Amino acid sequence: MTDQISLESALTQLHCIGCGVVCEKAEQNFRCASCGDLLEIEYPGWNTSAATRPDPLTLRALWRQRRTSGLPVDESGVWRFREMLPGFRDWQEIITLREANTPLYEMPGCARIAGLQQLYAKHQGMNPTGSFKDTGMTVAASVARRGGFRWVACASTGNTSASMAAYAARGGMRSLVLIPEGKVSWGKLSQALDYGAVTCQLKTDFDGCMRVLNEVVQRMPVYLLNSVNPYRLEGQKTAAIELMEQFVWEPPDHVIVPGGNLGNSSALGKAFLEMKHLGFISTLPKISIIQAAGANPLVRTMRENGGRQLISVQAETAASAIRIGSPASWKKAVRVLQATGGTVEEVSEVEIALAKAEIGADGIGCEPASAVTLAGLKKLVMQGFVKPGESVVLILTGHLLKDPEFTLKFHRGDMFAGTESEKEADILRFQQRAPIVLDASMDAVIRTLKEADGRLET
Ligand code: F0G
Repeated sequence: MTDQISLESALTQLHCIGCGVVCEKAEQNFRCASCGDLLEIEYPGWNTSAATRPDPLTLRALWRQRRTSGLPVDESGVWRFREMLPGFRDWQEIITLREANTPLYEMPGCARIAGLQQLYAKHQGMNPTGSFKDTGMTVAASVARRGGFRWVACASTGNTSASMAAYAARGGMRSLVLIPEGKVSWGKLSQALDYGAVTCQLKTDFDGCMRVLNEVVQRMPVYLLNSVNPYRLEGQKTAAIELMEQFVWEPPDHVIVPGGNLGNSSALGKAFLEMKHLGFISTLPKISIIQAAGANPLVRTMRENGGRQLISVQAETAASAIRIGSPASWKKAVRVLQATGGTVEEVSEVEIALAKAEIGADGIGCEPASAVTLAGLKKLVMQGFVKPGESVVLILTGHLLKDPEFTLKFHRGDMFAGTESEKEADILRFQQRAPIVLDASMDAVIRTLKEADGRLET
């Protein structure tokens, strides 16, 4: 029964989001051959007959049941939901690191700080390579291998390259990484190296790397694994499906996502819209997208022209994962904002650093780009867009250990020294815990312990 459902419903077609044309086959750059806009995957069978339309009751039970299975395709938290994904004739063909199945945490400390009764974090940093990218990579890398490609490639601010390199290696393919020199955290760079990628540090920013790669893929037989690849977004959809399963199919009021190249917000929005269309859920959460103020093209686009024309910016932020000035999936993200009633917000470097430490203090932790969610949420609560009694989920996109340099700089207190944010950064003092260098003596340690906790003074 299982495979019948998946193969039937998995018949897909590629549809251009600009001119609406249906393409047989994607070009190397995943852009529409007629108008150059992005492509999106559709499942025509979902609209034609009840037999090929995923049935919520059957599937919720089947997906739950698969959690007890030992098959790789069921152990993966992406492929467990394969009826919502492009199909494979033989499930042995997929490349999986048992991605997804990520935790949903309650965040009591952050809830208090934000002024909410309840706040949750879906931690996509708990994926095999430490970021949400794995959920999309398992799908798109599998499609690349099925297509006979020997090489895959991406431009990246770090996480995509780490994930791509891992899945390529697992699938017996070579990988080419283009990253902006000096702007990718050591953790992410070292992953790409370890997984065997040919790693090129280009003397430009992410947007420049993307431009170069687009030219490379037109000339060479390499498969593009950036999020313009619509198969990646299909895999990333499953975070929303898994979240709904964790919420017992009752959507929260708000989902808050960081925005970089805007693939992830687009993927999550697509998932919620599809789940609503198919009857898995009856309401939509408002999906809001937060950017760093120094890398805010979507915020400006929404505020200055209502989402009609992209306003590119020269991006600068220490949250290097989202240091992107010209996001590829901006149109898809605008559609998600409009369809779900979400909003956009921007946050300062100091606000990001504070929020990251607050998420850490809840015993969770994340990388800087993920922390924009909490920083933005605080503003949305103050503005009244999020009400104190509403349920909110932050999507934490990357693991704390992705960027330890940022964390160390923060706690040592030298992050904003000598910058124009120095004064604003005063509020960070209460969160900073610099490492303490001591003589190797019991007395010194006990004195420090008592200084940290007055109640130990007896
Ligand atoms: N958070 C993290 C940790 C990221 O690595 C990224 C993007 C985002 C958020 C933004 O997601 O691009 O889908 O809007 N990182 C990409 C990369 C660009 O190359 O790793 P998005």
